[in-house]
Amino acid sequence: MGGASSLYPGAAGVYVPAAMHGFSYKNGSLYCEDVELAGLAEEHGTPLYVYSAATILDHFRKLDAAMAGVEHEVAYAVKANSNLSVLRLLANEGAGFDIVSGGELFRVIKAGGDPAHCTFAGVGKTREEIVYALEQGIYSFNVESEEELRYLNQVAGELGMVAPAAVRVNPNVDAKTHKYISTGKSENKFGVDFEAIDSLYDRAAAELPHIKLRGLQMHIGSQLTSVSPFVEAVEKVLPLVKGLKERHGIEFWSIGGGIGIVYKESFESGAEEWWTSKPEAERPLTPELYGREIVPRIKDLGLRILLEPGRFIVGNAGVLVTRCLYEKKGSAKTFKIVDAGMNDLIRPALYEGHHEIVPLKAPATAEKHVVDVVGPICESGDFFCQNRELPDFQPGDHVALMSAGAYGFVMASNYNSRPLPAEILVEGDTATVVRRRQTLEDLIEGEL
Ligand code: LLP
Repeated sequence: MGGASSLYPGAAGVYVPAAMHGFSYKNGSLYCEDVELAGLAEEHGTPLYVYSAATILDHFRKLDAAMAGVEHEVAYAVKANSNLSVLRLLANEGAGFDIVSGGELFRVIKAGGDPAHCTFAGVGKTREEIVYALEQGIYSFNVESEEELRYLNQVAGELGMVAPAAVRVNPNVDAKTHKYISTGKSENKFGVDFEAIDSLYDRAAAELPHIKLRGLQMHIGSQLTSVSPFVEAVEKVLPLVKGLKERHGIEFWSIGGGIGIVYKESFESGAEEWWTSKPEAERPLTPELYGREIVPRIKDLGLRILLEPGRFIVGNAGVLVTRCLYEKKGSAKTFKIVDAGMNDLIRPALYEGHHEIVPLKAPATAEKHVVDVVGPICESGDFFCQNRELPDFQPGDHVALMSAGAYGFVMASNYNSRPLPAEILVEGDTATVVRRRQTLEDLIEGEL
């Protein structure tokens, strides 16, 4: 992190992060912290996910510090990157975990995380998952419907237990993000209508003896790049949460995840100058701004505040390294065909996600060419960029797809019978294979 991970006041007195990620050129070669990516690609092959531990910790600590004015816990959203070593890193830092499946709970426990610091979200929990989570003693089931709350009561009753629960309120706030990752509007499948919450808590208290109403949860969407939807949601839900505390003695309010990260210019955003050169209004959302806007509004509530960030913690901490296989010059376009595909990183295909493409060898000239960078999969949607100006790279050269630490490997599949890539965690000058590359034998394991 160039030794510059401390905060300092920017031009308008706003605290800006001094460094956003651990990827930079040294002597013309791209490094993750103190490890040269070209060496990793050589040794472990490509496609290859590489994560910077310092960046993950730096982001966790910044958000934690930004919320210091209120009793809180940062519950990392495991879905963003569930590698055991990433979870262990965060467990050792004192993070809680927001999980969405029995599988994620299993991973957290294997990584040394404490189930008592886990919240369990999701609209479709199965009986097996509920039983497993009850037996492990999780902190709260974040429930998404009255039907689920009643079912949770029934299952807990059968086990002679009481299930701690929070209902997810849908505040009907526009998160102004991609339609596939917006969750806080009435037309989304998530949560219970704002207007229906009070009566649901009253009914639950009266009729469901195996439920302990422990909190209230909300989450309005992912990749929010402005603080105003968060503020709007907090202000809207505040009176509701106060009432629930008075009438039902709830102890926590989870204000969800969703803090967005820099995708465009994400490489440049690793440098301090990039942040200071931006006028305040044009700066991406920072944890400091989030904390400054949110904490004063909730600090006198007397509730424990939970946050569920995923992307913010790991997104800019990871890259996907891929090798150029061919250059194909068509009549209309030039295609750079690389060895990573949409099965390895699906965000461009699924959400029109933008990932910067940075050569591992620093470009010798400022010259750029308009190209499509595409994968080997038999789908037209298998591209990482279209008509983008990029510095030259040739077959045999490697490039890094930036900001691939969140919703990268976790969404990878074996489509086209392609083995899953390896994952590497870098800590200073040490690189550890935290998941080995799949083999062809792995592909057919369990099949007849
Ligand atoms: N809490 C709940 C209830 C969620 O549904 C999510 C994300 C999070 C927390 C964490 O959100 P984050 O802080 O990471 O924005 N695959 C998509 C993103 C899907 C997000 C789903 N829910 C993508 O690649 O953009």
